[in-house]
Amino acid sequence: EMNKTVLVTGGAGFIGSHVVERHLNEGNAVVVVDDLSMGLLENLPENDNLTFFEKSITDTAFMNDLLAKYNFDYIYLLAAIASVADTIERPYESHQVNQEANIAILESLRINNLRPQRILFSSSAATYGTLPDLPKREDGPVRPATAYAIDKYATERFLLTYSALYDLPAVAVRFFNVYGPRQNPKSPYSGVLSIITSALQDNSVFRLFGDGLQTRDFVYVKDVVAALKLAEDNDQMVGEVFNVATGTSRTLLDAIKGLESASGKKLMLKKEPERLGDIKYSEADISKLTSMGYTPMYDFNAGAAEYWDSL
Ligand code: UD1
Repeated sequence: EMNKTVLVTGGAGFIGSHVVERHLNEGNAVVVVDDLSMGLLENLPENDNLTFFEKSITDTAFMNDLLAKYNFDYIYLLAAIASVADTIERPYESHQVNQEANIAILESLRINNLRPQRILFSSSAATYGTLPDLPKREDGPVRPATAYAIDKYATERFLLTYSALYDLPAVAVRFFNVYGPRQNPKSPYSGVLSIITSALQDNSVFRLFGDGLQTRDFVYVKDVVAALKLAEDNDQMVGEVFNVATGTSRTLLDAIKGLESASGKKLMLKKEPERLGDIKYSEADISKLTSMGYTPMYDFNAGAAEYWDSL
């Protein structure tokens, strides 16, 4: 098989760096565009097939040149202001990154007649908002309630429209609660499992918001990478949106137990009031994705064990 040329925006970030690693392992040439606002250079391996640009995707002149120069086979649109809280602080700036810059990329491909084999965009379970119905289905209602969720939803729709109208084969995925190595625990709005593992490592106190009985569909980052790989090659997935999750949920207290047993340590925990705007229960229906041939390989205990051992 011929080697591919792959663009990963946000490639120095948590999920992006795993996508980069996978493609380098397969011998493909990878270009990363990341402004390092959230990503870290140390997330990226040393590799002759990797080219890194410290640039924002909002630099459209740069992006236009890059797209024309490389004529990518696969384009991963993973760059984002990924913290919901951050988008609440700066809704217009985050809109420019999370929506406008991505549409500018699509437009550049369209106008310049560049036709990648696949474009993949990371949408979010946040599009479902606080709607109570479980499990969440892709054909069910959405109620995006923050700038973050609105931009993810709108970009997802733009992408699928470009896919249908302009021969730009694209797939959108809605990530649920992704966890694993390289998720940065530094912000209070980081994924909860990265905060818990870092508290276990440092023997520091974890602040539990609410009763711990809230549920999440936690999906290991390697399963996410596998779902994206499927979307690269499966033509039936083009023009569609897919939940990426495990299809099962667990309470936060259960997740803590799993990480305690993976680490052999006991978490110090302080109960605090429920976080404002928190969703109580979340679980994905993944039958649309499994009907494409996807099976999650990591149950929670396997993911927790591998995550802990990677630290
Ligand atoms: C996640 C996404 C968010 C998205 C939402 C949509 C992350 C980091 N956030 O939020 O972008 O809008 O899904 O469904 O993936 N918690 C604690 N202590 C902490 C941190 C968190 O108790 O220090 C609790 C939270 O209150 C929450 C649960 O853990 O109940 C999960 O929190 P978090 O990892 O931030 O994810 P979501 O709230 O599901």
